Amino acid sequence: MPSTHDSLLSLVPVVPVVVVDDLAHAVPVARALVEGGVPVIELTLRTPVALDAIEAIAREVPEILVGAGTIVTPGQVKQAHDAGAQFLVSPGCTPALLSAMSDSGLPFLPGTATVSEAMAVLEAGFTEMKFFPAEASGGAAYLSSIASPLPAARFCPTGGITAASAGSYLALPNVGCVGGSWLTPKDALAAGDWARVTELARAAASLG
Ligand code: 3PG
Repeated sequence: MPSTHDSLLSLVPVVPVVVVDDLAHAVPVARALVEGGVPVIELTLRTPVALDAIEAIAREVPEILVGAGTIVTPGQVKQAHDAGAQFLVSPGCTPALLSAMSDSGLPFLPGTATVSEAMAVLEAGFTEMKFFPAEASGGAAYLSSIASPLPAARFCPTGGITAASAGSYLALPNVGCVGGSWLTPKDALAAGDWARVTELARAAASLG
């Protein structure tokens, strides 16, 4: 399992953002990602089985770093931590959520989409953040424009990024990695096509 000691943004070029509808898919999808060279998974808290999926992956696939995504309330920080999440990701950032994530002791990425939001996160003492929704908020051109005024901020852009567009983000000085759901397509999970997930992961891993 990779260590988050240095930076969440330096582990892999592409963090898979995964929605699991069926708990039985959690462990095989995690194994398929590891097999493809992506030992990190962001499991989104968007389905009723998400917390159980995090727990199952943490227990059965120790070689992957499992995080909880789509954290939108302080209460979910505790739930995710209790389930075994090793990092936290939020699409946004309120003062209460930032405190809860910071107090958890886990590495985390608060979500930002504007210069003022990024400045608020920096002001609170954190330099790493998610940029969401990346494509709809101005994409790589936007992030490139804020690199000079906000040199301390480092981003994981997510939202609408594809295998084809990931490279333009990864080339930016203020981007450590990108996030995306394209490594784990809904139809591949539904069909149990783990080989396809491994293949997509392998291609994403080679972007680094
Ligand atoms: C996220 O929560 O980071 C996004 O929903 C992932 O966006 P994508 O599905 O457009 O990759």
